Amino acid sequence: KKKITTHVLQEMKSKGEKISMLTSYDYSMAKIVDKTGMDVILVGDSASNVMAGHETTLPITLDQMIYHATSVVRAVENALVVVDLPFGTYQGNSKTALDSSIRIMKESGAHAVKLEGGKEIKESIDRILSAGIPVMGHLGLTPQSIYKFGTYTVRAKQDEEANRLIEDAKMLEETGCFGIVLEKIPAKLAKQVAESVEIPVIGIGAGNGVDGQVLVAHDMLGLNVDFSPRFLRRYNNLSQQIEDSVKQYINDVKTRDFPNENESY
Ligand code: KIV
Ligand code: NA
Repeated sequence: KKKITTHVLQEMKSKGEKISMLTSYDYSMAKIVDKTGMDVILVGDSASNVMAGHETTLPITLDQMIYHATSVVRAVENALVVVDLPFGTYQGNSKTALDSSIRIMKESGAHAVKLEGGKEIKESIDRILSAGIPVMGHLGLTPQSIYKFGTYTVRAKQDEEANRLIEDAKMLEETGCFGIVLEKIPAKLAKQVAESVEIPVIGIGAGNGVDGQVLVAHDMLGLNVDFSPRFLRRYNNLSQQIEDSVKQYINDVKTRDFPNENESY
């Protein structure tokens, strides 16, 4: 399989070939995911929830994201590795945004960064792009703004927010972003966005009319049992499998079954 670049993703959209994207936060998982032929691996700031146990994505730091990204990059041979800029490292001023992005690219070896927001962060996006760093946008239910929204329900159900989202998507394209993630918005609106921009639009809870799909690996593998939104399809029940295996191990220790002679020196 060939190396995925932003150019390859653009070609996939042109040919109508769907793009697959999944999170990874560590070397072992990224190695498995990359081997499957995944197109894009996202080092998401969902690591804040999934890896660190925080309630939101807000607490994770740039250093922590770089640690996750560095581990993932070491494992990946083919996928495009995109890293989330964490909350507070790009919104305030474009110089900070550029510095944060340069640190991610330089210290981790990742291929691109992702930022949440529309026209309010345009200056930051411009400046990051001017340094030659590929940028992916993220609109809709942007989790770093959860305290503004006050709820995890579907965004852009009303015309005003929907129109703003379409304008933001067009702005992201014009500014030079190579792709956009749309999170938890009506399928009809997401399809309309995907049809009105040339760059790939990747959905999560955004229906089937977009150019690709992204999920959090821990959610789709059933490692994370407390999270079950409508948009999530579970492909495994790893938390149950791990629980069963660990219990079996405890039992083998307690009953003196483990280790046996072959497992001893
Ligand atoms: O952090 C993340 O995992 C994400 C995806 C859900 C798009 O941003
Ligand atoms: Na994210």
